[in-house]
Amino acid sequence: MCGIVGYIGKKQAAPVLLDGLSKLEYRGYDSAGVAVLNPAGGIDIVKAKGRLKVLSDAIDGGKKLKGTCGIGHTRWATHGEPSENNAHPHCNDEKTIVAVHNGIIENYAELKAKLIRRGYGFYSQTDTEVATKLVDYYYKKYNDPLQAISQFALRVRGSYALAVMYKDFPETVFAIRKDSPMIIGVEKGESFLASDVPAILKYTKNVYYVDNLQIAKLEIGGVKFYNLDRDEVKNELVEITWDAEAAEKGGYEHFMLKEIHEQPRVITDTFNYVYKNGEIDFSEVGLSDGILKYVKGIVIVGCGSAYHAGMVMQYVTEDLARVPVRVELASEYRYRNPVTNGELVIVISQSGETADSLAALRSAKEKGLKTLAIVNVLGSSIAREADFVFYTKAGPEISVATTKAYSAQLVAGYLLAIKLASVRGTITQDYCKTLLDELCSLPEKVAALLENKHLIQKFASETMDKKDVFFVGRGTDYAACIEGSLKLKEISYIHSEAYAAGELKHGTISLIENGTLVFGVLTQPDLIEKTVSNLVETQSRGALTAAIATEGVKLPDVGFEKVFSIPHTDVHFTTSLAAIPMQLFAYYLSVLRGNDVDKPRNLAKSVTVE
Ligand code: G6P
Repeated sequence: MCGIVGYIGKKQAAPVLLDGLSKLEYRGYDSAGVAVLNPAGGIDIVKAKGRLKVLSDAIDGGKKLKGTCGIGHTRWATHGEPSENNAHPHCNDEKTIVAVHNGIIENYAELKAKLIRRGYGFYSQTDTEVATKLVDYYYKKYNDPLQAISQFALRVRGSYALAVMYKDFPETVFAIRKDSPMIIGVEKGESFLASDVPAILKYTKNVYYVDNLQIAKLEIGGVKFYNLDRDEVKNELVEITWDAEAAEKGGYEHFMLKEIHEQPRVITDTFNYVYKNGEIDFSEVGLSDGILKYVKGIVIVGCGSAYHAGMVMQYVTEDLARVPVRVELASEYRYRNPVTNGELVIVISQSGETADSLAALRSAKEKGLKTLAIVNVLGSSIAREADFVFYTKAGPEISVATTKAYSAQLVAGYLLAIKLASVRGTITQDYCKTLLDELCSLPEKVAALLENKHLIQKFASETMDKKDVFFVGRGTDYAACIEGSLKLKEISYIHSEAYAAGELKHGTISLIENGTLVFGVLTQPDLIEKTVSNLVETQSRGALTAAIATEGVKLPDVGFEKVFSIPHTDVHFTTSLAAIPMQLFAYYLSVLRGNDVDKPRNLAKSVTVE
């Protein structure tokens, strides 16, 4: 989950590397470092513990490092504590080979033992130092930089995006990836390397997505690609359609707030991706009506918020299309031995690189099941490996806590459910049209909710000292609660739990104390009374209760501290509206508590390790 960058061109490399790393800090931010080939032919390495700013200050924004070829890294620690010593780049003893790495070398202990037997010493606890010294070992053996990297790839187990510089090849950056993302950009003779597009968008929109086990050689004037046999191979240049501003804060204090406000646009764009001439057209997704009509069941897998979007999709799809749907955590699915029956497996992922989701996808394919990816990042591993891809149109999401990508996933899920229902004849054409009209009006309803954000801000300021916050609901409201609770805990660091309202009394209600805040999400007309009864049970134990409810629906008068209204929509889509006040509540609490909203402690946005 670290971020890597590389540059070779006519500019001074260090400022370009720092700039790129600043766009990748969402991937990890406990330490950072850069290495630049200096004009005297040596390699300068500077590393610092803490945020990128510490590194940037140490090299005066990059001015202190001279040279036009370099690599950089921002770290999310896996092997070894965050420290200057463990920070990347790592180098061999002679400082003639340096490398940065994202991923995990699973057999690093065995490789380290082998290298120690060959006389190598180690200064850090990282698997990356082992990787670097393994490259060094093969370079000394074969005297060929490409062969050293291909031998490395043959010897190593795990995932990696690795960038290497050799002192002997002063105008070149070599790179290879396996199951960790890496893209390469080119523009007028300059070459850029990064874990993700936003890092280089300022400089170029011409991008290569590096294939698994493909070696890239970046030089002034262009990039060449090789397979592990060192035969040159072709790679397709792709033009990125979003611009650099999409990855900037655009006047908002935090990326999260900007991304929350982008949700009306994101919902519209995701809807329009498949809504053509008044109906849902999945030709771009590649899914035929035949598959949807005869599929025996659906299994949805994902991690974190993507899993939560899958939960909503389960309720909505079963209700509308009458297809059996199971939703599972990708980390569990991959190690289970499920009984399969020709299901369609749907993998939901913003990044398209989450290690567990990718492994779940591969395991489904091995079982002979058809797979559909609902993915945000173009060209990501999950998108490339799935049989069919529905691209959510959230654009680059930078804040670690997802908001707009989750909203886009919900809309993709609704559209798939409606399409399934219409193909299978479980809803009338009239109701199908009503649902599509409703989806069309969701963006303006989200926009209306955002207009009233000050109400949530005020409530957040009144409740900022709470130690525990519960969210309860039934049906899709329960699925909405799980996401609301995750949002709150990940950025405010307040303890929070989400419960199916009826389940609370089976144990967890013992945690309710005087003043505990309990939110009820009440958007499902048939279930409101039931959930309100559960909320009253918490009130009897001293809880302060608040409700998120559809406007115009009369709630029993039980003394809610606050009621936040959401506009009316079809019952299947209410999560898209209920999510907004919960996102804002988490956001404002995080701000009020002085936290780093966009980069919460211990987290990373793209979890490319198990
Ligand atoms: C991380 C992020 C979450 C995200 C999850 C799955 O934990 O912090 O926000 O929901 O990974 O990521 P994906 O990219 O697969 O949607």
